[in-house]
Amino acid sequence: MAIEIRTPHNERLSLEIPAEVADLSTPFNGSVCAEDGELYSIDQNIVRLLKQSRSFDTLAQFSNHIPLTAEIYEDLWRRRSIGLLSGEDFSLEQEQRLLNQWMAPKGGELLLDVGCSTAFYARSLQDYEPGASTVAIDSSLPMLEKARSKALNEEIDLYLLHADARQLPFYGEYFDGIAMGGTLNELSTPHQVLSEIRRVLKPGGRFFIMYLLESAHWVGKVAQQSSRLGGLQFWSEREAKQLFTGCGFTLKEYETKGIVAFALLS
Ligand SMILES: C[S@@+](CC[C@H](N)C(=O)[O-])C[C@H]1O[C@@H](n2cnc3c(N)ncnc32)[C@H](O)[C@@H]1O
Repeated sequence: MAIEIRTPHNERLSLEIPAEVADLSTPFNGSVCAEDGELYSIDQNIVRLLKQSRSFDTLAQFSNHIPLTAEIYEDLWRRRSIGLLSGEDFSLEQEQRLLNQWMAPKGGELLLDVGCSTAFYARSLQDYEPGASTVAIDSSLPMLEKARSKALNEEIDLYLLHADARQLPFYGEYFDGIAMGGTLNELSTPHQVLSEIRRVLKPGGRFFIMYLLESAHWVGKVAQQSSRLGGLQFWSEREAKQLFTGCGFTLKEYETKGIVAFALLS
């Protein structure tokens, strides 16, 4: 299925991204042109919607643009992160099962992974339901390149977009399901990104989100205080739920593992 994009430079203009771009087994290089002649390049299947190759406004976001971070992120950190942060035995495979169970992707659906990093959520959803089409966006090119190589190894088709979640490059009510893992804590404008997600989610669509809560333990509080200096944000359970309802979402499912929260919103 080809996907339609709203150009970042003019929201009245659209771009059609052909289905072949998601077939990662065939390197796709070229460009797509908006009606006013503005060109956007596609390099190794990654659609480049951002003019600057790097865009970040906190130290935490900057670290995602370092190629070494992208290289080790999933296998060294992400695999252990939920267990380490929650202090509970919760594997990546259990998280994947929860994602697939709550999101329940169906054939023909269009799904989005926001701030995908190596696209763990996008790959999981697309692998679970190969009849769906999944789009993964991130503002870090090294992360998208790693997402591409992981999806290619696993023979999973994905649309990979270098784009900014603060201004999602889609028209309203476009996606059946959206997932965002760990990204909320890194955003300098979480309200803006959640409002964008709400805008592009179809009425009745599912939004799976994983985020970190404020720690109640003094050791956790000290660690989170220093992370705040790097630009991370944390919320109490009540504050996070207020943030979601304030952006127009309804809570459908909710589960915590220590300070790690999983929510299904609609
Ligand atoms: C904690 S990581 C996400 C991890 C990933 N979702 C997972 O489940 O493994 C946050 C990601 O969000 C991306 N990001 C941060 N701000 C962004 C923005 N405004 N637009 C797009 N991506 C952004 C970062 O580049 C980084 O890759």
